[in-house]
Amino acid sequence: MLAVAVLAAGKGTRMKSDLPKVLQPLAGATLVERVLASCKGLAPQRQILIVGHQADRVEQSLAHQHGLEFVLQQPQNGTGHAVQQLLEPLSDFQGDLLVLNGDVPLLRAETIANLLERHRSSGAAVTLLTARLADPTGYGRVFADDAAQVSAIVEHRDCSEAQRCNNLINAGIYCFNWRKLAEVLPQLSTNNDQGELYLTDTVAMLSPAMHLEVADADEINGINDRLQLSQCEAVIQERMRRHWMAEGVSFVDPASCTLSDGTRFGRDVVVEPQCHFRGDAVIGEGCRIGPGSLIDNSRIGDRVEIVYSVVRDAAVASDCAIGPFAQLRPGADLAEGCRVGNFVEIKKSSLAEGCKVNHLSYIGDAELGSGVNVGAGTITANYDGVNKHRTVIGAGSKTGANSVLVAPIELGEGVTVGAGSTLTKNVPAGALALGRAKQLVKENWQAPS
Ligand code: UD1
Ligand code: CA
Repeated sequence: MLAVAVLAAGKGTRMKSDLPKVLQPLAGATLVERVLASCKGLAPQRQILIVGHQADRVEQSLAHQHGLEFVLQQPQNGTGHAVQQLLEPLSDFQGDLLVLNGDVPLLRAETIANLLERHRSSGAAVTLLTARLADPTGYGRVFADDAAQVSAIVEHRDCSEAQRCNNLINAGIYCFNWRKLAEVLPQLSTNNDQGELYLTDTVAMLSPAMHLEVADADEINGINDRLQLSQCEAVIQERMRRHWMAEGVSFVDPASCTLSDGTRFGRDVVVEPQCHFRGDAVIGEGCRIGPGSLIDNSRIGDRVEIVYSVVRDAAVASDCAIGPFAQLRPGADLAEGCRVGNFVEIKKSSLAEGCKVNHLSYIGDAELGSGVNVGAGTITANYDGVNKHRTVIGAGSKTGANSVLVAPIELGEGVTVGAGSTLTKNVPAGALALGRAKQLVKENWQAPS
């Protein structure tokens, strides 16, 4: 039997933020979401989050997580006090308790599985994860012998000069025999520099206490301040880029690009510098993205080129070209072979195959048939100040430069709109529509003197 407890009640004073620390975002997910995800594969019988500081907000953010229990720690009197709150909810529980710090988000699932395996095969009362760090400042120091048996953990601030030289640190990840832990938890004291109850003090009361050193020290980075947050972001971004490079994606300047968990690439995609992928951005094969583009929560087909553009909640089918300097907003839906050029904004509109909107246009709440050519500066005037209205343009139609289509309006197939027209009425298929003042020329005109 396995129970998992994640400690997430602390304020995170050193972040200097209105947000509770465990809700800080890291590559598109909160710290606590990442911690919970790292132990998902273990399928624990119980999964408990210890909340305290801004508990409601933390609970709300995780309301969608199935089977997660919340236990309130009020006030927050240290990590030992946090785990004491489990004495009641786990009073009948027999088995192992995995304790994870909510601010240690880079752990790999395999590492946790190894910890659990080692703990179970050795029969230890507690097994904790450790690492050797070049700079162990701030972490609890672990005192252990060559057989990996731990005698004590001393917090950085409680260490003597000599003890601080020990660079074996406590990662804040523990596997306990719950019944043995439950016996010693009530004995914790606040006899330390912070006057708190330390979970780490239980280790000296439990025997045998063992540790397992991680190979990749990056995994156990704890986040206490913004610098550490940015360092973890760098680690996680590097992991994701390496993963996609191994899957056949080229990054021209990898460190300048950021990805998220939901990013997916086909093979032979080239990502130029300064590109950012957020949410579920799915990119097809052979695309060239960037430089300088943001793709958020969108689906991109194969062989699409996107240059200096923003694509958000949109769909772009294969063989389209977007940009430079285009914006596809939510609900933009482009079929194969469309071309959207500079200073064009498209919102909640569908473009059938082969449409061209090459320059300086706004297309909103519109439906374009195949092969429509939207002239430079064409605007769909979709908003009357209160409501949004639709524009429909039939297949093969062409709008002249600087046309305004005042919605609701429908143009049939093969319509031609003269440059500079403002159209307010429907136009039947095959017609030429002109909606502009007739040009007046006064020859030999004398200016008034
Ligand atoms: C803790 C460990 C330290 C270890 C480090 C690893 C203790 C005493 N020290 O130190 O040995 O090297 O983690 O990152 O455990 N929390 C609560 N309730 C509280 C206090 C904290 O839920 O009353 C939660 C926090 O939200 C956080 C986690 O426990 O997620 C760790 O707390 P933090 O104050 O960051 O501990 P550290 O000083 O980093
Ligand atoms: Ca910490």
